Amino acid sequence: KYADSYDMTNTEQYRPVYHHTPAYGWMNDPNGMFYKDGVWNLYYQYNPYGSQWENMTWGHSTSKDLLHWEFQGEAVEPDVWGTIFSGSAVVDHNNTAGFGNGTVVAMYTSAGENQTQSLAYSTDNGKTFTKYEGNPIITSNTPDFRDPHMFWNEDIKKWNMILAEGQHMNIYSSDDLKAWKLESQFGAEYGNHSGVWECPDLMKLRVRGTDKYKWMLICNINPGGPFGGSATQYFVGDFDGKKFTCETAPEVTRWMDYGKDHYATVTFDNAPNGRHVAIAWMSNWQYANQVPIKQYRSCNSIPRDLDLYEYEGNTYCGVTPSPELTAARPKKSTKTLSESCEVVVTLKGSATITLYNDKGEQVVMTYDDKIRTFTMDRTKSGLKDFSDDFAAVTTAPVHGKMTHLRLFIDKSSIEAFDAEGRMAMTNLVFPTKPYNKIIVKGKGKYAVYNLK
Ligand code: FRU
Repeated sequence: KYADSYDMTNTEQYRPVYHHTPAYGWMNDPNGMFYKDGVWNLYYQYNPYGSQWENMTWGHSTSKDLLHWEFQGEAVEPDVWGTIFSGSAVVDHNNTAGFGNGTVVAMYTSAGENQTQSLAYSTDNGKTFTKYEGNPIITSNTPDFRDPHMFWNEDIKKWNMILAEGQHMNIYSSDDLKAWKLESQFGAEYGNHSGVWECPDLMKLRVRGTDKYKWMLICNINPGGPFGGSATQYFVGDFDGKKFTCETAPEVTRWMDYGKDHYATVTFDNAPNGRHVAIAWMSNWQYANQVPIKQYRSCNSIPRDLDLYEYEGNTYCGVTPSPELTAARPKKSTKTLSESCEVVVTLKGSATITLYNDKGEQVVMTYDDKIRTFTMDRTKSGLKDFSDDFAAVTTAPVHGKMTHLRLFIDKSSIEAFDAEGRMAMTNLVFPTKPYNKIIVKGKGKYAVYNLK
């Protein structure tokens, strides 16, 4: 129903405590994320008029700690060029675009008759945006031509931008954020192509424990994920400001997360201390529109700091819960499971961790130290009949011995990490009553930190 007033109170049992959700309406991809003056700004694909995908608008929320978010409403609204699809934002410290020093410049896909790229800028730190009069700035007739991700490349002292076009990525450069030169294309022969390539990102990351830097290209793909539907693949290599050269063979596919609910993952611009902080949309296009929630739909993952690490001669993406999560822990841990908490399991070998309630609903997680895998079984986790694709067992390879498993539980989601950042798995769950018990069998001990 269309309405101008909404019930803004937190009424639903599945609404998380330390994850972002819009107050009402539908949400998909994170968009235009940037940090400035102590505030993390998160925009997202947003339908303010209903809790299914439609009327794409950029919604806006802000946070000072990456865990608690304030809903700010609509930031960029549809116009004559189309609805507002995914994109990015940068802080233009040196006024390269001519909109003023420190202006926030956003580029998004205008989804009209064609998919074209448009600019909007904000001189009030992202609260309100003015559309650029020269829109659209990049046009094309290709049906899938979208999700521009801009960043400042200090190596060449220019802006770069990466955009998904069909089954490859286009890479551009610019001096002023308005005129973009197509430099190269990447990916037609690389990685997984069982779905549409979307929501790219490109960044320079340090290889852990070394002085080496490499570049990582993120490519979200739907469908084609390891357990069906949406997922995030990445490529490691080199980038000279024009061309991305992948260091792995064309047939190699790398997944950033081995759950079913990790998509459209991109990073914040201008994050402090050179950090690369990623947030994923915590759902899957297979059932995102059907999950058993009414007032709003979809939440985002916890923030994760990205880096690279070497294992058996290969370089992989490290995915570590952002330090803000550790800072949010209370001084004392407990043994009692709560609806919103972090469980840390100290492992001395294989172990099975079961979360359950008195309705017989359970999530079973197993770390197998011999074959080095981590598995999560949500086939008996609670509500699941809203989609045939929901019940699933997801399995991840673990690179090296896992000594600390970190589980982030927040009403309707479980995110599992090797504390060293060498395994990540993100899955939704809909227990009809909260899981209030935990058993750890095998070589593991646990501690629960309640998170508020
Ligand atoms: C990815 C995506 C993007 C697009 C947006 C539309 O989930 O399909 O490619 O810009 O969603 O909402």
